[in-house]
Amino acid sequence: TTVLRADYTAPAFWIDTVDLSFDLDPVKSRVLNKMTLCRNPDVPVQALRLVGEELNLARVLVNGQGATFKMDGNHLVLENLPEGSDPIALEIFTTCNPSKNTALSGLYVSNDSFFTQCEAEGFRRITYFLDRPDVMASYTVTLRADKAKYPVLLSNGNLVDSGDLEDGRHFAKWVDPHKKPCYLFALVAGQLVAREQRITSRAGTDHLLQVYVRPGDLDKTEHAMNSLMASVAWDEARFNLPLDLERFMIVATSDFNMGAMENKGLNIFNTKYVLANQATATDVDYANIESVVGHEYFHNWTGNRITCRDWFQLSLKEGLTVFRDQEFSQDLCADASARAVKRIEDVRVLRTAQFPEDAGPMAHPVRPDSYIEINNFYTVTIYEKGAEVVRMMQTLTSRKGFEQGMKLYFERFDGQAVTCDDFAQSIADANLGSALAQHLPQFKRWYSQAGTPRVAARGEFDAAAQTYTLHFSQSCAPTPGQAEKAPFVIPVSIGLLGAASGNALPLALQDGSVAGADSHLLVLTQATQSITFVNVAEAPVPSILRGFSAPVVLDYDYSDAELLTLLANDPDPFNRWEAGQRLALQSAIHSIAAHADSTGVNGLNDAYIAAMREVLRHPTLDAAFKELVLTLPSETYIAEQLDVVDPQRIHSVREGMRLQLATALQADWEWAYATHKDNGAYRPDPLSSGRRALAGMALSYLCLAATASGDPVWPGKVLQRFKDAGNMTDRFNALQALVGSGHALAAPALASFHAMFKDEALVLDKWFALQAGTSDRGGQVLPAVRQLLSHPDFNIRNPNRARSVIFSYCSGNPGGFHRADAAGYVFWSERVMELDAINPQVAARLARAMDRWKKLAEPYRSAAREALVRVAAKADLSNDVREVVDRALAD
Ligand code: ARG
Ligand code: ZN
Repeated sequence: TTVLRADYTAPAFWIDTVDLSFDLDPVKSRVLNKMTLCRNPDVPVQALRLVGEELNLARVLVNGQGATFKMDGNHLVLENLPEGSDPIALEIFTTCNPSKNTALSGLYVSNDSFFTQCEAEGFRRITYFLDRPDVMASYTVTLRADKAKYPVLLSNGNLVDSGDLEDGRHFAKWVDPHKKPCYLFALVAGQLVAREQRITSRAGTDHLLQVYVRPGDLDKTEHAMNSLMASVAWDEARFNLPLDLERFMIVATSDFNMGAMENKGLNIFNTKYVLANQATATDVDYANIESVVGHEYFHNWTGNRITCRDWFQLSLKEGLTVFRDQEFSQDLCADASARAVKRIEDVRVLRTAQFPEDAGPMAHPVRPDSYIEINNFYTVTIYEKGAEVVRMMQTLTSRKGFEQGMKLYFERFDGQAVTCDDFAQSIADANLGSALAQHLPQFKRWYSQAGTPRVAARGEFDAAAQTYTLHFSQSCAPTPGQAEKAPFVIPVSIGLLGAASGNALPLALQDGSVAGADSHLLVLTQATQSITFVNVAEAPVPSILRGFSAPVVLDYDYSDAELLTLLANDPDPFNRWEAGQRLALQSAIHSIAAHADSTGVNGLNDAYIAAMREVLRHPTLDAAFKELVLTLPSETYIAEQLDVVDPQRIHSVREGMRLQLATALQADWEWAYATHKDNGAYRPDPLSSGRRALAGMALSYLCLAATASGDPVWPGKVLQRFKDAGNMTDRFNALQALVGSGHALAAPALASFHAMFKDEALVLDKWFALQAGTSDRGGQVLPAVRQLLSHPDFNIRNPNRARSVIFSYCSGNPGGFHRADAAGYVFWSERVMELDAINPQVAARLARAMDRWKKLAEPYRSAAREALVRVAAKADLSNDVREVVDRALAD
């Protein structure tokens, strides 16, 4: 059934206290839930309807007495509760089977330990409850379990009692001092060990930080702990938000549907975002751990202290918290260049994942109006586009102004469950007179209208008058259920460079404002709008949307010469990178159009190659930035720019371009490798990880060129590098270079990598993912992927492992997946149906791999449709997958 945002009503009852007792057992856990409730005086008197799933109900007591109740589907309905305002004591006793819980929602078993995942609607799989985020209660939790098997018993808040029981069992009692919605409840029980750290906050309060992992993984917790300490310090320094708990725990589990979960005081993490040491984790892993640890920690205020009124408001906490974790990682950077690199990486995610979502069948506003399965709406739109919307609010109010807005938000709403409107209003009200306050109702269209706006710009230079006018127009294509879009508020940061000189031109407007600045923020509010700069001494090249100041597509008809000027000179690093991307994209699009009748694809022109050489050899640019500039736009990003997509043509054009860069710059790659390969002692900071990234890229290109020409020297060196590497980043880059070039040495290297890391699950995930995601050369990947499914280390029930093989192939390898014989789509449909019976959330994610099928050229399009129809025809499909495939097939 469809849930509508417009149907929101306040709950008929409030739950004040919850006293939960668990007798933990893998196959039959007993849960006693003692609540005190009272009627909500603001709504008409009505029955209490508690929701539960996969529970065995044993007993219901009202005020200590047996009570009559009825079942209505998943609901336990109590019709005759006492009227009036007195508190009502309700006792519900249920059992459940955590070992059978392969969906990993609710209470489940992983590696012989118990974990919970309650967001969004998992608490109803633990006990009957008002499972909605606007019901906030105080929790007391008692855990009882076998002491030898489950020596550690954790829940939210403070440990107030613990001790031994009969029959080798023991107990622990936890009290959470903060009220919370049930989606933030958590418990953990098992054989775990913790890295501990005591800290004192700026305000002088003491806290205990703990990172719990399985015995044997303790040597991989230092980075997570460092990231947690940095997070605590950052939120206090930047937003004045201190840790409000005596104890803050992170627990890692290898079976987890998503990245991590911000349960109050007891964050539960996918091991992928906790465990790292230099032998097993790459620089990218280190960076991800930092941002996910930060993200979950920052939820403690933005999400937990102030939570969502209903799930349509999900971006209230997720968009804001992604924005905060992005700012955190930027603020940890040593310099502006590293900050820009982080910004470029974030925008790349937005454009390769969110823009397609916004243009496809699952498009939805940042604040959706309806859903069938809320788990399908933990999307890049809610998270990443939501973060861009918050970022625009900061841009329109300034960094200081935004901080004041946050302060007002907490003054108004601390301890409450609120809406996106409440947040936007707070930021605007703290910044009266700002562009945000002036345009707030219109700005909020970012919350209500789906789709990526396009901004078209055109420049007009009057040499005699020394004026330069930029004409803008904005539009937004229809999305499901939204045919017409009204104009957005779009902050556009603009600079001008001299076309001939390459110099940054000082900006001035007719009214005398802005004089001398080198960037200007134009706030678009109309469908069409112009701005005129005066005293423009030289024909300019406009640098538009600096720093990616709004999540839009910018259409400007740049010539190659203009882009080369920007690439060489733009003081805005984002647009400097963007100029290189546009150049490569233009070549790719031309080659794709010409590909049908050309044999040797030669996509990149000499000027581009020369410009790339300049960047690579540049004396002052950082290695990390160079690596980004030299990375060609992905196949997915290229596909998004085309109306009709032939994935094989895109793949062969891009591979041709890669080979061209490899060969034309061979001497430069040799130089780059020689000068970046040694980084001394391993440190995962942006500067040294950038150097490793560039060295790794050089190695890939050298190996690619050598493999193509039959030269054995570089592949041999790469193999040696693989063997000698002192850290996983260098080792994996070498392995990737061999596998990616299709060299014969790849097979023995893969075998030795497996032997080295057979006991390291997260490393094996990389091993699987590398093979499933590797460049297709004549259709070899699918048979290899099918083989991997029967590898003894493959386990489809483990989401990380399923993702490493199945998602890496279906979503991460367009050249391998989109086969003219449709076998990739057949594989996809089989796996969606197989996974759906195990874990609907993971299955529905996989189902999204077909989102863009309507853009495909034949024969892909018809074959993709057939595969979707096959899945949709399955009788007992979950709501999760049903919603995704039905939307994909809708007109
Ligand atoms: N709130 C978590 C985070 O963003 C995500 C949990 C989502 N889980 C789910 N099953 N939908 O950090
Ligand atoms: Zn989050």
